[in-house]
Amino acid sequence: MRFNSVIISSFFASAVLAAPGRERRSWSANTTLDSNWAGSITTLEGNGTFGYVSSTVYAPDLSGQVGSSGVALIGIDGTPACLGGMLQLGVMFNIAVEGPSYLAAYRYGNESEGFFTNVDIIAGDAIKLMVSAPVDATLGFVMVKNLRNNQTATQQFNSTERLCGKTAEWIVESLVIEDPKSPLVNFGTVTFADVQVGGGKDFGPQTDSILNIIENGKVLTSVSVEDDSVLVKYL
Ligand SMILES: *[C@@H]1O[C@H](CO)[C@@H](O)[C@H](O)[C@H]1NC(C)=O
Ligand SMILES: *[C@@H]1O[C@H](CO)[C@@H](O)[C@H](O)[C@H]1NC(C)=O
Ligand SMILES: *[C@@H]1O[C@H](CO)[C@@H](O)[C@H](O)[C@H]1NC(C)=O
Ligand SMILES: *[C@@H]1O[C@H](CO)[C@@H](O)[C@H](O)[C@H]1NC(C)=O
Ligand SMILES: *[C@@H]1O[C@H](CO)[C@@H](O)[C@H](O)[C@H]1NC(C)=O
Repeated sequence: MRFNSVIISSFFASAVLAAPGRERRSWSANTTLDSNWAGSITTLEGNGTFGYVSSTVYAPDLSGQVGSSGVALIGIDGTPACLGGMLQLGVMFNIAVEGPSYLAAYRYGNESEGFFTNVDIIAGDAIKLMVSAPVDATLGFVMVKNLRNNQTATQQFNSTERLCGKTAEWIVESLVIEDPKSPLVNFGTVTFADVQVGGGKDFGPQTDSILNIIENGKVLTSVSVEDDSVLVKYL
């Protein structure tokens, strides 16, 4: 149950691609189609910052070709609205030769990432994710817990000073590799339950942007948002 190096490097590559000058994402406030994000983004208007984001995400059933992949993640920033900064945590998934494979992973800053190999994840597991980054402090923190086996991992970050704290997201991301691109895996439905955001304002559907992934002119996802959950369906 290992990711191949292509998938690991693709996770890194997509973080790099979010950096200035190499932007591939066409995200903007009222755009609903995106090259690699599907889900919900909450934008904080006016003063204040998001201090934490959390959710329980269910590791999805996967189908499709070997090498296809994706990641379900939550986070603060990571859009072009805050160039350079982000703190994200999620579950990467792909179809390896031996079958579906899952790995908890995080991103921070503008091009760094890490993996929690000590949290075993299989399809159907409920994975509690929490990202905390008081922007007026300098410490950031992520925590992942598999509620099936209680395996937990945490990581602290010394400096979150590059964060803006103005957007929070619950998304499925298509992993971008320059060449070749890993296809988005058929993930059925990814459910983000118990969606919470704090520090700025309460999560509410009326202030969300909904994004769906479009690729070669074809819309690949459908998103629905309820009071405390975000569902991303692969079409
Ligand atoms: C990423 O951050 C480092 C450190 O602040 C900076 O030197 C580098 O230019 C940044 N890269 C991009 C692409 O913004
Ligand atoms: C985006 O939507 C907001 C809220 O509906 C609106 O105020 C703003 O003018 C829109 N911006 C653009 C560029 O359409
Ligand atoms: C934001 O903060 C500034 C400076 O404290 C203040 O002047 C402004 O009125 C605030 N805006 C809102 C929308 O609260
Ligand atoms: C996980 O923790 C809960 C609460 O402490 C406990 O009830 C449960 O038995 C634990 N499950 C496993 C698999 O360790
Ligand atoms: C993190 O911050 C602590 C306390 O300021 C400092 O001692 C430590 O060297 C820092 N670590 C890194 C990796 O910057």
